[in-house]
Amino acid sequence: MRIDIISCLPKLLHSPFEHSIMKRAQEKGLAEVVIHDLRDYSADKHQRIDDYQFGGGAGMVMSIEPIDRCISSLQSQRKYDAILYMTPDGVPFDQTKANSFSLLENIIILCGHYKGVDERVREHFITHEISIGDYVISGGELAASVVADAIIRLIPNVLNDETSALTDSFQDNLLAPPVYTRPSEYKGWKVPEVLLSGHQQKIDEWREEMALKRTEKRRSDLLNR
Ligand code: ADE
Repeated sequence: MRIDIISCLPKLLHSPFEHSIMKRAQEKGLAEVVIHDLRDYSADKHQRIDDYQFGGGAGMVMSIEPIDRCISSLQSQRKYDAILYMTPDGVPFDQTKANSFSLLENIIILCGHYKGVDERVREHFITHEISIGDYVISGGELAASVVADAIIRLIPNVLNDETSALTDSFQDNLLAPPVYTRPSEYKGWKVPEVLLSGHQQKIDEWREEMALKRTEKRRSDLLNR
């Protein structure tokens, strides 16, 4: 899978893909993340990519032309299955969306900034408007990193132990159960006996029960989906 990320602050995007699972996914050739500096596509001699909004009001708007040039240049090289735009007024991102995006071959993610992009970009180029939650962050870069990470880790063979993606929180609309490691007792705080019992069926049942209890307590909305 190839993910092209378009940004006016590309430096913000490098680190998340240079470590750990994201790095290994690229080294194994399972994912390719290509970051594009929107300013490289500006026709303006000062490399401007934004302008004042029509009708007045505070805040700049990202112009359509550099975005069109960048997306069109990418589309002339390969076919894209989806063009995502990161924005707080988008559709909430969740594990179901991560699963379906992970099946695609090529996607573009456009990072919003300032007051956002000229609406015509959304109308004519974007296939999915995505929010990572009901709060506003300073730009789409961190949101794009979250979405790309969630997608890439679901690509088959990215995780060494395939089952570990399947037992993640949300994968079955349940939160993950608690986990423990050595020591089995610390400052008098003990690990639940069943996990030390060696009885796999009982351990599985306990984990299922804890996942359910945790979900009922914290996220009962998930149980009604
Ligand atoms: N840009 C700023 N806030 C955002 C959010 N919550 N989701 C996606 N992109 C954003």
